[in-house]
Amino acid sequence: MSSENKFFSHGTLEKNVGWLIVATILVVSIAGLVQIVPLFFQHTTTEPSPGVVTYTALRLAGRDIYQREGCLGCHSQQIRTLRSEVERYGPYSLAGESVYDHPFLWGSKRTGPDLARVGGRYSDDWHRIHLRNPRDVVPESNMPGYPYLLTPAAADTISSHMTAMRRLGVPYTDEQIANAPKELEGKTEEDALIAYLQGLGVSRRYITVDEVVVK
Ligand code: HEC
Repeated sequence: MSSENKFFSHGTLEKNVGWLIVATILVVSIAGLVQIVPLFFQHTTTEPSPGVVTYTALRLAGRDIYQREGCLGCHSQQIRTLRSEVERYGPYSLAGESVYDHPFLWGSKRTGPDLARVGGRYSDDWHRIHLRNPRDVVPESNMPGYPYLLTPAAADTISSHMTAMRRLGVPYTDEQIANAPKELEGKTEEDALIAYLQGLGVSRRYITVDEVVVK
């Protein structure tokens, strides 16, 4: 390109902030699309990884409470591929573990520990005590207590919630949707939240042979 070509010369871009902004946006957009668009079509990001199942009605209701109470503000649900994280929390997270999550609850703030694999780490009773007053089991904890979750889980909205999830691609059957209110009968919000927590990350609790982390 000749230097006389004012429009395309590098000098013009460097001296004209308007064009520099336009050119930067153009380059970043193309680079972004090249990275992001293929993810919409890759099986590893669009299909559930082995053992990942849809949320039961109870767990879905619990997930709502997790969102409503802002647990996300202090807890991430994404284990990165760093050795320190894998040793502390368990196998790193895969995209295929989140295919039924609408919205994703990965988070980025860790005031408390990552919860991506907390399922099965404690008993239901431990969670009950911990949720009502964390300091009863972890004296130094600064997590707030949630003693007011003893109200009934929202059975009246669960079917429409599951129908909405189905529209987003979660393969719920008509039968599952019809039976959902019954599944929540007699359950409290606390029951639902604990059921949600106890299922987190259990499909990939153990590291497979090709992912062994050397201790
Ligand atoms: C203000 C920040 C904060 C909020 C909000 C918060 N937590 Fe925590 N959480 C913590 C901290 C700090 C710990 C570590 C100490 C402890 O175990 O209590 C923790 C620990 C936990 C643990 C134990 C994790 C482990 O691996 O030992 C669970 C489970 C948990 N929180 C669930 C929740 C749920 C569910 C909510 C929402 C209802 C919530 N937290 C809201 C800060 C928070």
